[in-house]
Amino acid sequence: MRINIVAGNWKMNTTVEEGVKLVSETVEKSKDLSNVKLIVAPPFTHLASTGAKIKGTGIGLSSQNCASEAKGAYTGEVSAEMLAGINVEYAIIGHSERREYYNESNEILLKKIKLALANGISPIFCVGENLNEREENRHFEVIKKQIEEVVFYTDENDFEKIIIAYEPVWAIGTGKTATAEQAQEIHSYIRKILSKKFGKKAENTSILYGGSCKPENAKEIFSKPDVDGGLIGGASLNADDFIAIAKSF
Ligand code: 13P
Repeated sequence: MRINIVAGNWKMNTTVEEGVKLVSETVEKSKDLSNVKLIVAPPFTHLASTGAKIKGTGIGLSSQNCASEAKGAYTGEVSAEMLAGINVEYAIIGHSERREYYNESNEILLKKIKLALANGISPIFCVGENLNEREENRHFEVIKKQIEEVVFYTDENDFEKIIIAYEPVWAIGTGKTATAEQAQEIHSYIRKILSKKFGKKAENTSILYGGSCKPENAKEIFSKPDVDGGLIGGASLNADDFIAIAKSF
């Protein structure tokens, strides 16, 4: 059985102090939640202190990235092994902001995914088309390539640990959400592609929707059969909104 997940990607927001306060509020307000796994993805600098606050609560700790090399002379990078050493359980990999602003190719993303998995970290692998690609009706082909060039190169046991996030670039931070029907269409397509390679195991993959997901629209989007939760940006910076989204199941 696949699980429902609501993950908060804080991006480059909050000081450590603000982050610890935010995660403490999130813990407090999440007490009566059931039927959904919460994950928070604070910046690297906050992982240890926020991780200490969520210890034993069932809330998962995620990084927003990891290095594509295991160790060595890569100034400024943070390795999957270092993250595993401070109890990071998930890593967002292939976010469109990383693909676009830091030129992360599918080849680089595959290296990151392999290193995350080798260190016991579950990747939250992001895919999604930009506005041009959607307008030119190329979204299916773009997503297929993103999946085939990365996820298809993992073995069956590792595949079980991967979470997919569909984030249409045109919906991220724009206030423009995909309709529930658009999300379902792509999510079921993603599952179909995955099942061609991994068979029935694809039924257990959690596929999250991301892009201007809010308390007001989460219920409708999450009601679709292939939408197993959300990867939340802006709204995860407010504990009330984040929890309201998680209660939409
Ligand atoms: P917003 O929810 O702010 O649109 O961001 C979505 C996102 O990029 C999550 O990774």
